[in-house]
Amino acid sequence: MLIVLAILSDTHLHTPMYCFLANLSFCDICFTTTIIPKMLVNIQTQSRAISYAGCITQMFFFIIFATLGDFLLAVMAYDRFVAICHPLHYMVITNSHFCVQLILVCWVIGVLKALMQSLLVRRLTFCTYLEIPHFFCELNQVVHMACFDTFLNDLIMDVAAVLLAGGPLSGILFSYSKISSSICTISSTQGSYKAFSTHASHLLTISPFYGTTLGVYLSASAAPSSALTAAASVMYTMVTSMLHFFIYSLKNTVMKRAIKRLLFPK
Ligand SMILES: *[C@@H]1O[C@H](CO)[C@@H](O)[C@H](O)[C@H]1NC(C)=O
Repeated sequence: MLIVLAILSDTHLHTPMYCFLANLSFCDICFTTTIIPKMLVNIQTQSRAISYAGCITQMFFFIIFATLGDFLLAVMAYDRFVAICHPLHYMVITNSHFCVQLILVCWVIGVLKALMQSLLVRRLTFCTYLEIPHFFCELNQVVHMACFDTFLNDLIMDVAAVLLAGGPLSGILFSYSKISSSICTISSTQGSYKAFSTHASHLLTISPFYGTTLGVYLSASAAPSSALTAAASVMYTMVTSMLHFFIYSLKNTVMKRAIKRLLFPK
């Protein structure tokens, strides 16, 4: 929220890079909001119950924001790639019109994926009184509780995982490999060290996200009820959202100044 307010209130920060960052922060707020309020209610009432409709709704919004966050990270990596490797074309390529289109495409992909997955869960039948070994309605875990043939669901989940998580991930890896090879050719060691540390920290925030997502995905198929799966998903849902704040704002002097101005206006 602090990042979004700082960027919206400062006209100097109305550039593509900060626009993406504001959208990523907004997405992080929504993402954690799909889980944490329900979790707090459950802790308070000592009840772990969730209705069927509630479960599907939570899953729907969770998938939208998880996918959106994924694609926004890839878009941000692409933005840095153009800024560093094609600096003269940067203003032409990333004009505001193009940025709005990119963000819209990310939203559309997220909503379509969530719609498809939750409609596929709607066609399953469940026996009553199920226990989901998780702290929220996670798609994989819910599908494996069905008293129904889940072949189509499994197939589509796998295809979606390969296309929609593999796509942004390969984009990110491509962008950062291009960035690091172009940083290596910078002659001044001072400048190249600074650029390198910034991008290494971006990669560091991305790797736990993908690492734990992959871990949860693989272990959910292998051992659906392990405590490790639940612990890893706490990590990827909450800790990475918080890491975005530290990496993208506290390591960035421009953002730090904007947040300071927002909190302590003269
Ligand atoms: C997200 O991006 C759009 C388009 O660039 C921008 O108008 C909007 O203010 C951004 N959203 C937030 C929450 O900053």
